[in-house]
Amino acid sequence: MVRETRLTPERLVYPLFVVPSEGVRKEISSLPGCFHLSADQAAREAREVESLGIGGVILFGLPSAKDAQGSQGYAEDGVVQKAVRAIRAECRELIVMTDVCLCEYTSHGHCGLVEGAEVQNDPTLGLLARMAVSHARAGAHVVAPSDMMDGRVGAIRTALDAEGFSGAAILSYAAKYASAYYGPFREAADSAPQFGDRRGYQMDPANAREALREVRLDLEEGADMVMVKPALAYLDVIRAVRELVDVPVAAYNVSGEYAMVKAAAARGWIDEERVAKETLVSIARAGADIILTYHAKDFARWTK
Ligand code: PBG
Ligand code: ZN
Repeated sequence: MVRETRLTPERLVYPLFVVPSEGVRKEISSLPGCFHLSADQAAREAREVESLGIGGVILFGLPSAKDAQGSQGYAEDGVVQKAVRAIRAECRELIVMTDVCLCEYTSHGHCGLVEGAEVQNDPTLGLLARMAVSHARAGAHVVAPSDMMDGRVGAIRTALDAEGFSGAAILSYAAKYASAYYGPFREAADSAPQFGDRRGYQMDPANAREALREVRLDLEEGADMVMVKPALAYLDVIRAVRELVDVPVAAYNVSGEYAMVKAAAARGWIDEERVAKETLVSIARAGADIILTYHAKDFARWTK
């Protein structure tokens, strides 16, 4: 009766990794319990996610081919575009979000266009906007740019509106840190940079005030919701963002946070259910309205 924070599955978003072909459902070794899914299998998975009462899914794509421009990322028949159409044909309630970033589609693995050894901010914006429009055209309710280029929220908003998708929302990865916690994801999404790192465009873990500036800029450019990522090592940032804004705040309980729990639980060192619930409720208590987590299905089953 006196509990202050209540977490229900409708506030959770479950990440899906979609691949080409048909009939593929292959467990991801770095993310036990999560799968590489072809579009048909992603639709099946999404139906299950919906029936568990989970609020949404976010899609990441592993394309059939990569190039320097990440062109499969904005192809009308790309892996994510196909999977979005398949999921929308099956699900009525589920919110379908897509990750908008080039790193899964570029041969060099960076989140933007590269010239020499430098990521080129401004030339990348048009490609991100094309990707977002192609996702909206396929039926995505929410596009979520994770690239951290400056000005991309504005570029995406303008392009969506110009193409007739003013109803598509933008969830901006506004405060995204250059984190070692993304390790298992880069294996799952095959998106590790082939040279250098992402510290030129992602944030320094030591900075909290800068997160507020990033959030303010994204809201000025038209973001509908803002995200802090990772979650657990940044609970103070989630709280600060919550106090700054009146839009929904999301937090990403990232791959490394999930993998640590799974690995320790597999050794019998921790109680997975209790640890995962405690972690997720702490993220909600810190101020997140929406939590992206690989534990979404587990959580929904545990709390049924
Ligand atoms: C791509 C992207 C990453 C994640 C989400 N989108 C990886 C990265 O920036 O290197 C991480 C998600 C996770 O670790 O669960 N820009
Ligand atoms: Zn990226």
